[in-house]
Amino acid sequence: MSTLLYSQLARYYDRMYAAKDYRSEAADQIRLIEKVRRSPGRELLVVACGTGRYLEHFEKRFRCTGLDLNPPMLRIARRRVKSSRLVVGDMSTFDLGRQFDIVACLNGSIGYLHGARTLRQAVKRFADHLKPGGVLVISPFVSPEEFVVGRPLLHTYEDADVKIARAVVSRLKNRNVALLRFHWLIAERNRPVVHVDDDVHELALYSHEALLEAMRRAGLAARRARVPAPVRGSPWLCLGTKPLGRP
Ligand SMILES: C[S@@+](CC[C@H](N)C(=O)[O-])C[C@H]1O[C@@H](n2cnc3c(N)ncnc32)[C@H](O)[C@@H]1O
Repeated sequence: MSTLLYSQLARYYDRMYAAKDYRSEAADQIRLIEKVRRSPGRELLVVACGTGRYLEHFEKRFRCTGLDLNPPMLRIARRRVKSSRLVVGDMSTFDLGRQFDIVACLNGSIGYLHGARTLRQAVKRFADHLKPGGVLVISPFVSPEEFVVGRPLLHTYEDADVKIARAVVSRLKNRNVALLRFHWLIAERNRPVVHVDDDVHELALYSHEALLEAMRRAGLAARRARVPAPVRGSPWLCLGTKPLGRP
């Protein structure tokens, strides 16, 4: 299985999300974070930061670090962000040796962690990287109840030089994991048309309660909150606050 979107196809990632309003999503998330956090600092970590679309807005207000598994995504982020520090790492095992006021895992990226044990391990990593009073924000991928099997989906993008169509029919790999085998057609100026059919994404379907429970097990006070519905994403955020006095 290969997930080409974050490697060979990384340069098309931003085009696939061109309609997503990262600026207003980041503003909604900041409003909520400021309501719930009790640690006053400005250190923010985005795990699975991708091409830096959230970081570019967060860094206007916070001192940001971005972590991602895939160097091609970080190479694009490096060109986008101004002051954020970017590191290659796996969100289920990383250790940056310092703590943050805010840790965020956004846009359903948590789904790339498979199985309850890996989820708990990752959320513990997130919690250990929080200062006392700090807040963890996870925007979930689709929950098992929301996932529709057999649904055809088509995302398109076009400008004068590039036309892209990406199609998939949603399937289940098993009861808790979505299997999305994307088919791409990419037409670029002065190049042969490319057809890619082995961009395969397996995404765990966690209920919000499973995410909140992983936060509680990691010692955080957990709850969820609704934000204005984003383009292609959940209107819910799962929030975990580290008690003051807990290292
Ligand atoms: C849907 S993209 C979201 C990127 C970014 N948050 C955004 O919204 O634009 C998922 C990201 O998760 C990253 N990723 C997948 N598994 C990961 C892991 N185990 N650790 C860190 N990053 C991971 C991918 O490289 C990709 O950049």
